[in-house]
Amino acid sequence: MKHIAILGSTGSIGKNALSVVETHPDQFKVVGLAANRDVDTLEHQIRRYRPMRVALNEPPAAERLRTRIRDINGIEVLTGTEGVQAVATMPQAVQVLDGMGGSAGLLPTLAAINAGKDIAFVNKEVMVMAGPLVNAAVTANSVNLIPIDGEMSAIFQCLEGARDRQTEIHRLLITASGGPFRTVPKTELYSVTPEQALQHPNWKMGKKITIDSATMMNKGLEVIEAKWLFNIELSKIDVVVHPESIVHSMVEWADGSTLAQLGPTDMRIMIQYALTYPRRLSAPVPRLDLKQARTLNFEPVDLEKFPCLSLAYTAADVGGTLPVVLSSADEIVVAAFLNADIGFMDIPAILGHVMDQHVVTAEPTLSDILEADQWAKATARSLIKNHSKSNKIVMS
Ligand SMILES: NC(=O)c1ccc[n+]([C@@H]2O[C@H](COP(=O)([O-])OP(=O)(O)OC[C@H]3O[C@@H](n4cnc5c(N)ncnc54)[C@H](OP(=O)(O)O)[C@@H]3O)[C@@H](O)[C@H]2O)c1
Repeated sequence: MKHIAILGSTGSIGKNALSVVETHPDQFKVVGLAANRDVDTLEHQIRRYRPMRVALNEPPAAERLRTRIRDINGIEVLTGTEGVQAVATMPQAVQVLDGMGGSAGLLPTLAAINAGKDIAFVNKEVMVMAGPLVNAAVTANSVNLIPIDGEMSAIFQCLEGARDRQTEIHRLLITASGGPFRTVPKTELYSVTPEQALQHPNWKMGKKITIDSATMMNKGLEVIEAKWLFNIELSKIDVVVHPESIVHSMVEWADGSTLAQLGPTDMRIMIQYALTYPRRLSAPVPRLDLKQARTLNFEPVDLEKFPCLSLAYTAADVGGTLPVVLSSADEIVVAAFLNADIGFMDIPAILGHVMDQHVVTAEPTLSDILEADQWAKATARSLIKNHSKSNKIVMS
């Protein structure tokens, strides 16, 4: 029985992770849960899975939760970043599933690695911000870092048995669905609404990643993530649009052979694999039926229409604190778009401005990274504020 702690348990990935636990009650025991402020969902999860320690990042939410679960004995309710980190490092957990989104996941993830936990992680922002630091901590603590994100899991699976043979890799091919606007002309993207951008054709996910999929920033973050996760040169990482989302990504080898991982669009498969790695167990998900007249289409990305992907390649190429700035500013800019403060095409425009203003620190320390994170968020907020006042489209 593997004891696990789940960070971001109330989110889309967290709920899917708990569904995997429910499918295999003989394999997993949940000992810790953490979220930001969703009291209702966490209370429900506590009553069902009976963890030993939980945390809600926001103190008033944690206080409400304490009152609500007064009838349950022997459960610690913590709060703040320290509380979330205490769940990430609890001695009873052997593996931590990091399902938190965004920069907030960085410190808990590093804390869990330094506490010797194996990590099942989906939070690409952590690798984008601090790939070299995460890799160094993983090596120093001899833990496993197993990706859940569909594309990263696919490449991880294709590299099985050959993880240290980077020189034999010709390129990694990350697939992209193309999002809801794949066939929409660029001229129409200026007026799309948050509701339209939230209509992902293939996946049901949290709002931030769904908007990132619509702008293709999600692919950009994955390119940076793959660079660190698989220790591979940027020039060997390519993106191809594959609207069916059946091939989750590929590895093309030096001899011209390409390995692909295929599967249904159901995150529970990747979550389960990250928890049972290297074993595989049955999963109650719909099977892929390739006999059902399926076609697999592939096409290049239109970088003109999706400039966020180019911004990510630039950030990955320059390196240092620039990927931190891109990723952290993106959190603020996406929230502003969801709030209808800015337009869809203002997202890459504002991000480009934030990147232009940044003075890059090469080989950043953790404190440089945290400083760049704060700087990027403040700069993005100020550009959004000015933009809202003038009500001007920043880029045409
Ligand atoms: N969803 C998918 O299918 C999918 C696929 C691939 C990759 N990913 C990646 O997975 C990550 C999570 O995505 P998601 O779609 O699951 O997001 P989501 O539905 O928005 O869930 C985010 C989770 O993180 C928690 N959280 C946020 N800030 C926190 C903080 N400061 N401290 C503690 N917990 C905090 C939230 O708690 P509250 O609910 O209390 O706010 C929630 O449980 C992202 O990095 C995304 O790129 C997701």
